[in-house]
Amino acid sequence: MKVAVIGAAGGIGQALALLLKNGLPAGSDLALYDIAPVTPGVAADLSHIPTPVSIKGYGGVDPTPALEGADVVLISAGVARKPGMDRSDLFNVNAGIIKSLAEKIAVVCPKACVGIITNPVNTTVAIAADVLKKAGVYDKRRLFGITTLDIIRSETFVAELKGKKPSDIQVPVIGGHSGVTILPLLSQVEGVEFSEEEIKALTPRIQNAGTEVVEAKAGGGSATLSMGQAAYRFGLSLVRALQGEQGIVECAYVEGDGKHARFFAQPVLLGKEGVEEVMDYGKLSTFEQEALNNMLDTLTSDITLGEEFAAK
Ligand code: 2OP
Repeated sequence: MKVAVIGAAGGIGQALALLLKNGLPAGSDLALYDIAPVTPGVAADLSHIPTPVSIKGYGGVDPTPALEGADVVLISAGVARKPGMDRSDLFNVNAGIIKSLAEKIAVVCPKACVGIITNPVNTTVAIAADVLKKAGVYDKRRLFGITTLDIIRSETFVAELKGKKPSDIQVPVIGGHSGVTILPLLSQVEGVEFSEEEIKALTPRIQNAGTEVVEAKAGGGSATLSMGQAAYRFGLSLVRALQGEQGIVECAYVEGDGKHARFFAQPVLLGKEGVEEVMDYGKLSTFEQEALNNMLDTLTSDITLGEEFAAK
């Protein structure tokens, strides 16, 4: 498998590259690309780590050599939030970056599975989808918005609150990846009961956890290390499924049946072609059902914004 990290010199990209260099299956190839000229140096640095994963880095304006032959492309390129900003404030810069990367992918590696980290994910995934569609190569099984950070945050916060081991906790998170569109299904966490107060406190904490980091970094950016870990978890699951391992399920923001919105995050069974099955997210509590109803206008307008941008 060849995995390309696009935006590899940034905070997320470097953390993700470090984890992939250590954790990809033996024999994998890792390609790093970033517009920043330091990128070959980041690869040289990582190449000294003794693992059976080959690594090459490319800087400059053309991602082609990193994308050539890629099975998986993970994109973190773009700008991050500063305090007071919403993920949607990043649209003007990041939308253009995703559009031109998707145009390149359509030509260089149209069969690759693409995981998008670049915010606003609710919108950038729609842009990538429609750019690939315009080029005649869109396959909805192969495009993902990475929402795994919402999952790992939920697992951490629930474990902390309930005094459990984080690895014993599983929390499906559905919807999208910003504010009210992030909906952790706390009613489905096995072996844990929550009071109404706990749910009313924990749900917004998970929804605003990205902002917690943006404020703590005080102008120095948004979550990079936990996002790197989240993207690594998702990327590795994808690689294992592409290699034929069965039964791997991750929540991700994908184009499904369109019941709620064209793109929606929910549990997805991964397989040799990417999405094997978009799974049912099960029964919701009254609180969750209400939260789902209340998010749909926001999610739909986030998606429309991307579709309109791609159509221009
Ligand atoms: C976050 O949730 C960066 O969107 C990312 O913190």
